[in-house]
Amino acid sequence: MAIGFPEGFLFGSATSAYQIEGAAAEDGKRESIWDVFCRVPGAIANGEDGTVACDHYHRHAADVALMAELGLRTYRFSVCWPRVLDGDRVLEAGMDFYSRLVDELLERGVQPWLTLYHWDLPASLPGGWTNRATAERFVDYALTVHDRLGDRVRTWTTLNEPWCSSFLSYAAGVHAPGQTDPVAAVRAAHHLLLAHGWTVQALRAADPSAVLGVTLNFTPALPASDDPADVDVARRVDGTANRFFVEPVFTGHYPADTLADLAPLWPDDLVADGDLAAISAPIDVLGVNYYTTNVFRAGERSAGPTPHISAPDAVQVLRDLPLTDMGWEIDPDGLRNLLLWLHTSYAGPAGTALVVTENGAAFDDRPDPACFVDDQDRIDYLRRHLTAVHQAIEAGADVRGYLAWSLLDNFEWAEGYGKRFGIVAVDAAQRRIPKASALWFRDVARTGAVTKPHETDR
Ligand code: FCB
Repeated sequence: MAIGFPEGFLFGSATSAYQIEGAAAEDGKRESIWDVFCRVPGAIANGEDGTVACDHYHRHAADVALMAELGLRTYRFSVCWPRVLDGDRVLEAGMDFYSRLVDELLERGVQPWLTLYHWDLPASLPGGWTNRATAERFVDYALTVHDRLGDRVRTWTTLNEPWCSSFLSYAAGVHAPGQTDPVAAVRAAHHLLLAHGWTVQALRAADPSAVLGVTLNFTPALPASDDPADVDVARRVDGTANRFFVEPVFTGHYPADTLADLAPLWPDDLVADGDLAAISAPIDVLGVNYYTTNVFRAGERSAGPTPHISAPDAVQVLRDLPLTDMGWEIDPDGLRNLLLWLHTSYAGPAGTALVVTENGAAFDDRPDPACFVDDQDRIDYLRRHLTAVHQAIEAGADVRGYLAWSLLDNFEWAEGYGKRFGIVAVDAAQRRIPKASALWFRDVARTGAVTKPHETDR
């Protein structure tokens, strides 16, 4: 029995520049904060880095051909800022790379979906995102890229997952630039949102018919029990992890309870007049990245750095659910509930569409002797989450597409290459080996329908 998606529903996949491109120092490319962070001893599992990654910088034509073979209708990629700009100077070779990539996609009938920022900030910007000036530079960068690619790229995402580039990067120290200062994290979060808002305004003025948006990561936070302490800790995590970003984008206000929680850490000079009006500039599409849902109880205050700066006493409680190789619980119902909440509370009233811009799972899979990866666990994950998306649509959510993370096994940030999210394997010789999940997803993309999970799978 199959479930059919609405006509025109977009099936595609996503990657990001640092995770696949390699060519870290070619054609005049400058360093990003990830190039620098990967050299910090102990920062990345096995001391790995993105210097070569999937060598996509040199293999883009074959990779695009593969996407077309897999029937993908949309490809979400990101531009590496220090590959295309050295200060104010355009790096023509880097810009040409993205221009060729876009042409190849269009020739093969794959719609390009461009993300301006997927974490590889130029290392030369003083203070990184703690500095308000970085948000101003971001607008110039966005307009320069748009100037070169805007005639062919119609869908533009400002930021990917600002929670990761603020709280995880400046408070928990897990991502570049590896700081552990909660106040710096608050500054970074606000400046990222400001960069988003100013860029939406600038791109809207330059190109009124472009489809503009932002991609946020959502990890719903549920309390382990009715105990008021558990309920409160889940509320505080939810505040910084989820509502801190979506609320100002749609309403022009930070959530009041989260502002109160963060008051001791909130710099007086952070928000200037007009900031929230810019941050809430209307968007056409909200990108939703979903991997898992977390349950918390109130416990001991953690001693070390944590991204949950308003909830250092949050302790995650595992439920009786299967885990991916990241240790993340597999909870497709969480995606259905999330999409309905976002549609009802924010996107629906604003007339903004939802697209799942990332969803997928790492499993410890490698090619067998016959050079095949029979990743039934990933097929099951994708199928159950697509079913959840379909349920949300049936219940009224305006969800227009689903992009699998990721096209290729790639550099999974602090985890290095050990965590494999791809529907296509990449071996040591850089061969692309479509996994069983890629062949299954090809059929989904071609037919617009997903075979329903068997009841026993649930
Ligand atoms: C998301 C990131 C993406 C990838 C997946 C697994 O947080 O946007 O680059 O690392 O997680």
